Amino acid sequence: MTDIIKGRGTKESPLVDELIAADSLPVPEGLSADGNYDPQLTHIEFSTYYDRDYAALELEHMWKKSWQYACREEDIPAVGDRYPYDVGPLSFIIIRSADNKFKAFHNSCLHRGTKLCTHMTSTDQIRCPFHGWTWNIDGSIKNIPEQWDFPYVDESYRLPEAKLDTWGGCIFINPDPEAAPLAESLGVLPGHFSHFDLADRFTLAFTTKKIRANWKQVWAAFLEAYHVAETHYDAVNFTGDANTKYDCFDDGKAIISRLITPAGVPSPTLEDRISGRQAAITTIQSFANALGPAAQATLPDVNSMEKFGRKEIAAWRRETMAEMLGADLSALSDAEMIDSIQYAMFPNFGPWLGEGLPLIYQFLPLGDNPDESLFTVRLTAPIPKGAPRPPAAPLTHLDFDDFFESLPEWGRIAHVFDQDMSNLPIIQSGVRAAASSRSRLSLGRYQEQRIALMHEFVERKIAEGQAAGR
Ligand code: FES
Ligand SMILES: [Fe+2]
Repeated sequence: MTDIIKGRGTKESPLVDELIAADSLPVPEGLSADGNYDPQLTHIEFSTYYDRDYAALELEHMWKKSWQYACREEDIPAVGDRYPYDVGPLSFIIIRSADNKFKAFHNSCLHRGTKLCTHMTSTDQIRCPFHGWTWNIDGSIKNIPEQWDFPYVDESYRLPEAKLDTWGGCIFINPDPEAAPLAESLGVLPGHFSHFDLADRFTLAFTTKKIRANWKQVWAAFLEAYHVAETHYDAVNFTGDANTKYDCFDDGKAIISRLITPAGVPSPTLEDRISGRQAAITTIQSFANALGPAAQATLPDVNSMEKFGRKEIAAWRRETMAEMLGADLSALSDAEMIDSIQYAMFPNFGPWLGEGLPLIYQFLPLGDNPDESLFTVRLTAPIPKGAPRPPAAPLTHLDFDDFFESLPEWGRIAHVFDQDMSNLPIIQSGVRAAASSRSRLSLGRYQEQRIALMHEFVERKIAEGQAAGR
């Protein structure tokens, strides 16, 4: 095998390490760290995206045995607030059971199984809509109508719980009672996010979308920047796609991966037909459009500036956003102010680092159908300095054929999401249509390594579960 080529830079669009080295502030250690792991999996069958038996193995050995991201603490701010977390056919009630206490109950009535929570809501008890069995929010049994008929029901009829822990204001659960602590699955995340605390942020936009594609297909569509030139063709003038940096970190217990796609430079696919200066001007205009009319008025007079590039965009953004958000962003490096820095903790947690594009992704199977999934995404912002935490944006729902562009809160990002979404159903139907002689993925060794890593994670979990005979 030949060596892996780690991205392609050009004069106007160098590789990320070079760009970061020239930025105005040094990046924190975690951001400049190189991954320590190259995914080994090379043979990945298309059938892993649609085979029902494979989906059943994922459910049994991965979803039932992994720490996974359910929601944010801010989604359930008051005692009694609850959020239904559905993963395939599994379902959990995430509830704030006391001031700073959270629980995850299996979402199934102990009488005849009815789901106890179907939407975000809040009451001081958990009551089944069928016959009215009722529990306290700490899970203890409260009342059974006509109790004389159930003489065997006693205090042991507590709602069964899944393990729950939090990090960065995010709530994670693990249905496996034997699970090791969450910290073991977070790996490098706490270190890399130590100066960009997700707990100190609030949700500006929050949407869940149904998609006609397997959950791994949807994840994979966001794990690489290789698709930018073709799918997001209108972003190549200001997006460093082929010079994106990819890293995988494996400490023996957690596998975390990351991409850094630089902004303010043209795509290397343009072969320097656009200058770095022109790319930077387009970038700042795009950021200003996203921030609204007030930001337009603050744009620097680029014609009078001898130099205009990443440093200047970052400086403008630091100042404008600090003012608009009432937040101190002076410690964030240029890369954190403008680039797309996306992390993945499989199976379903995708936090972004920095103000470039501060999103949190979640990917989930939908019901029992491996051809469908749920993509839930939120946009966050820092809590204004000295102010109380603003309320999180309410969750909006998009059905299979709905567009992000129908939701004003997503601004310019909506168009980008809709470009990605339009591919997914044809990817899913396409893998089913493959010739049997060509029915496996052909992944780029560098740019698509995180897709290999995702499949490796799933395979590892299935193998572990089968070895343990459970
Ligand atoms: S099924 Fe819940 S009370 Fe009967
Ligand atoms: Fe995309």
